Amino acid sequence: MASLAPEPTAVSSTADAPILRLGGVTKRFGGATALDNVDFDLRPGEIHGLIGENGAGKSTLMKILSGVHAPDEGEIALRGEAVRFASPAEAKARGVGMIYQELSCMPQLSIAENVFLGRQPTSGGVVSWKAMRAAAAEQLGSLGLKVDPRAPLGSLSLGSQQMVEIARVVFSGAGIVVLDEPTSALSGPESERLFAAMARLKAQGASLVFISHFLEDVLAVADRITVLKNSRKVATLANAGLTKAKLIELMIGRDADALAESYAATGIDLPPPAAGKTVLSLRGLEAPGSFSDISFDLHAGEILGLFGNLGAGMTEIARALFGQVVPAAGEIALDGKPIRPRTTRESKRLGIAYLSENRRKTIFPRHEVYKNISLAHLDTLLGPVLRPGPEVAIAREQVGRTGVRPANPLLNAGNLSGGNQQKVVLAKWLTKRPKVLILNEPTRGMDVGAKREVLDLVKALKAEGVAILLLSTEPETVLAESDRILVLSRGRITREFAGETVSKDRLMEFA
Ligand SMILES: Nc1ncnc2c1ncn2[C@@H]1O[C@H](COP(=O)(O)OP(=O)(O)OP(=O)(O)O)[C@@H](O)[C@H]1O
Ligand SMILES: [Mg+2]
Repeated sequence: MASLAPEPTAVSSTADAPILRLGGVTKRFGGATALDNVDFDLRPGEIHGLIGENGAGKSTLMKILSGVHAPDEGEIALRGEAVRFASPAEAKARGVGMIYQELSCMPQLSIAENVFLGRQPTSGGVVSWKAMRAAAAEQLGSLGLKVDPRAPLGSLSLGSQQMVEIARVVFSGAGIVVLDEPTSALSGPESERLFAAMARLKAQGASLVFISHFLEDVLAVADRITVLKNSRKVATLANAGLTKAKLIELMIGRDADALAESYAATGIDLPPPAAGKTVLSLRGLEAPGSFSDISFDLHAGEILGLFGNLGAGMTEIARALFGQVVPAAGEIALDGKPIRPRTTRESKRLGIAYLSENRRKTIFPRHEVYKNISLAHLDTLLGPVLRPGPEVAIAREQVGRTGVRPANPLLNAGNLSGGNQQKVVLAKWLTKRPKVLILNEPTRGMDVGAKREVLDLVKALKAEGVAILLLSTEPETVLAESDRILVLSRGRITREFAGETVSKDRLMEFA
């Protein structure tokens, strides 16, 4: 009988043989270990989810795979052959493409040039602009983006710029595509179109790595999921049977149920409307093409949530309050006095602080964390000569408060993980307590635990009497701590929720 048994699973093992394998990879930056003896493998035609807390090592692992960093120890095998990529260009030449967490596009170049960055179609050695523009328009169209390919990339919204970056890598013909948090700047429909494009690539036999803090998305698209924690690999598991709570437990290992619960899509009860002092009031505010007829009051010690889809006008309203957009009509009053901020400097002086949604624009990666934090307040740090002493001390306190890790204000901000850079941006606004704090997507790119920490911090500021405007396209973020919620759609307020039960579904109904 034994002789009739088939050869030991030779066929299925080749089908499962990884197209790419990282073995025992260790990476140190200075004294810190970013990756400790990590194994990772990618199979042909799979979508492999990669998750872990902020700073766990996800981006670093993928940067090793795509030639940005060289490992200190360990090996990389591509289709069974040992390789060593000296640069991203080398990895690209071997079919490995990566969409970085930080945008790497060129805002001053045209959209078409960005789609074909480094691989312009030529005819007889000459770049064929017409063919390039047509191909770019077609590829972007398939991702649902209808734009003039001749326009500069910088003229697009952050989400659309991200789509261009995605198109660049997805249509480059790479057999291995790494997507590092591609959806955090995308709207719901944009994310859906990206997932459809990922499914098409997979059907064509490509292998994809998908990094995201949106665990539902990872569970929805991934075949297998690898969890990193504190620079080490915890596990690689088949998706079947996994739950969000299980993933959180593997990632964080604490309060998993409570954390999963606090982000559940179930309804919450908003408190009875408070009678705090009115700090900010808007009446009939209008900026043509952005928003119209915006009226609301914001009270001391209140968190007012603004929910809407990308392009609903929330960011423009925030910019109007911060002196970056001049409204065509309507009034703004602060503490009962009419104001008309025309510069950010003026808004800051009035006590208005704004955490922008675009951290890539607000962080100075080559400067230390403490400089990034004190930049918003140089005027308060006395005197024409900058003394780093007090700056560092203040920054150290804010770094502790926001939970930036590593908690060292002397590190370069660009060397922190994506989620920790976001915390630095928040820390910047906490050095001087504002009257009005406007937070635009404050938890974007953060892991579940860090989101909770930031929302707890916002709650503490509210208890100190700060009036807070919390803008988000994620219903969970708005539902977590808001006292009242306004829903916006196409530049108008479509619904106010106050003193009642509200759910994710109800919010989305009016968006
Ligand atoms: N170029 C660098 N120089 C010094 N330290 C670095 C550098 N790049 C990353 N690190 C450190 O390595 C660790 C892992 O960072 P990594 O960016 O891989 O985290 P991540 O899992 O992608 O986190 P996030 O979800 O926040 O993006 C962090 O402690 C980070 O500060
Ligand atoms: Mg990262």
